[in-house]
Amino acid sequence: MVSLSPFSSLLLFLFLFLHSIYPPTTTVAAAARPNHDYFLKLPLLHKPPFSTPLQALSFDARRLSLLHHSHRRRRHPSLRSPLVSGASSGSGQYFVSLRLGSPPQTLLLVTDTGSDLIWVKCTACRNCSHHSPGSTFLARHSSTFSPAHCFNRLCRFVPHPDPTRCNLTRLHSPCRYEYQYSDGSLTSGFFSRETTTLNTSALGETKLKNLAFGCGFRVSGPSVTGRSFNGAQGVMGLGRGPISFSSQLGRRFGYNKFSYCLRDYTLAPPPTSYLMIGGDSQTRNVSRTGAMCYTPLIANPLSPTFYYIGIRSVSVDGVKLPIDPSVWSIDEEGNGGMVVDSGTTLTFVPESAYGEILKAFQSRVKLPGAEDPTPGFDLCVNVSGVGRPDFPRMSFELLGRRAVFGPPPGNYFIETSEGVACLAIQPVGEGGGFGVMGNLMQQGFLLEFDRDRSRLGFSRRGCARP
Ligand SMILES: *[C@@H]1O[C@H](CO)[C@@H](O)[C@H](O)[C@H]1NC(C)=O
Ligand SMILES: *[C@@H]1O[C@H](CO)[C@@H](O)[C@H](O)[C@H]1NC(C)=O
Ligand SMILES: *[C@@H]1O[C@H](CO)[C@@H](O)[C@H](O)[C@H]1NC(C)=O
Ligand SMILES: *[C@@H]1O[C@H](CO)[C@@H](O)[C@H](O)[C@H]1NC(C)=O
Ligand SMILES: *[C@@H]1O[C@H](CO)[C@@H](O)[C@H](O)[C@H]1NC(C)=O
Repeated sequence: MVSLSPFSSLLLFLFLFLHSIYPPTTTVAAAARPNHDYFLKLPLLHKPPFSTPLQALSFDARRLSLLHHSHRRRRHPSLRSPLVSGASSGSGQYFVSLRLGSPPQTLLLVTDTGSDLIWVKCTACRNCSHHSPGSTFLARHSSTFSPAHCFNRLCRFVPHPDPTRCNLTRLHSPCRYEYQYSDGSLTSGFFSRETTTLNTSALGETKLKNLAFGCGFRVSGPSVTGRSFNGAQGVMGLGRGPISFSSQLGRRFGYNKFSYCLRDYTLAPPPTSYLMIGGDSQTRNVSRTGAMCYTPLIANPLSPTFYYIGIRSVSVDGVKLPIDPSVWSIDEEGNGGMVVDSGTTLTFVPESAYGEILKAFQSRVKLPGAEDPTPGFDLCVNVSGVGRPDFPRMSFELLGRRAVFGPPPGNYFIETSEGVACLAIQPVGEGGGFGVMGNLMQQGFLLEFDRDRSRLGFSRRGCARP
């Protein structure tokens, strides 16, 4: 046996790890040249809503406190929880399936533009006969599973519980990560690399090596287990940070962008939505005909994960509301602003803007109030027996040229119970965080997150065709 001096073992590590990924990149079998028709198309599955408004309420509330937590942790050691006071219903999330490992294991992940980390539930069992297929990632059953070393630069991108414990000279000193949510929910394990099998447009089945992800050996708490997780095995972060799925894969598919179209899942049968990574076949025709509007994606250095958009004004029935534009901006401390988030259901706006929006709807809505309003919602109307309720029209004037986002009323009035529709917008305490444009508000729009050009394209056209 050859004994290594500390020095030579250090060299060994330099050899082993310095050629490793920084920033994390994946290697694909064939080189990707910018090509309109080279993309990854993943069907987005929608899970049915929570069975009671209370469950949905706690889901969005937890979700927001989680986002605000990760946002504020950077600077403020003490977290001030946001004021989230609403119930929601008709809540739901969008999922994709990912094939991970060799041979591939298929897992269901929540898609999330509001976080970066890709993680899945993992087990280290050898004899895994008690795990049903797809219920967890069986790391030992994959020949390509590779935990990152804690010295690997990749490890700097994830929060780790005890960085001082990294032992450079020990071969098996994995990069531990710990991702804690503000409600106490937690995923922790080994930050790792794995081969993923993708069905790409140009090459068909393609293996991508070295996808960086969190292999979660410990997963606990209500946000990431049980009902609110809806049977998922993990999260696919699509945020702007370097370890997200879109950051790791975007450029591999020619264009560093992704797009999706969230279809109205209350329709029967539910239509299929797609998440497209790279290429631009989903958006090209729409943008060619001039039907695509663009608004800049604003960067917040204190919160590099999020896709912020800028709001100039809000109108209801064409009347601009008296909202001070500064309520929408990001302050020097990195607070405020409006984030586009596929993982939150409702839309949350600063309190003073909320007051004006509520007032405008209260004075314009013609329908009678509901006798039994849904708790947590400030404006509920009785729509029983009304075929097509006539709701006031709301629109957001965004930064950019002619960038008016005018969602259909179904995106902001939701039926919370039989015959009762409520305004699905909630206030978020000022100074307590930032606003969120949730997935309900995004329904029926083709959204293109163009990361290289730092802009968000949106269109009401282009959602009809897959
Ligand atoms: C695996 O576990 C099952 C039941 O728990 C048992 O019947 C089987 O013999 C085990 N296989 C091995 C190789 O240990
Ligand atoms: C690092 O690992 C080596 C080899 O296993 C061991 O000899 C050494 O004591 C460890 N150092 C620390 C600080 O744990
Ligand atoms: C791969 O994609 C093609 C066309 O995009 C589709 O026909 C085929 O069913 C897909 N295969 C799998 C395994 O999803
Ligand atoms: C885009 O338009 C071209 C013709 O202009 C057509 O051949 C093609 O099928 C369209 N693609 C999509 C995805 O609609
Ligand atoms: C809605 O109005 C109808 C009468 O038009 C009434 O019978 C019903 O109780 C009302 N429902 C609610 C929830 O207010």
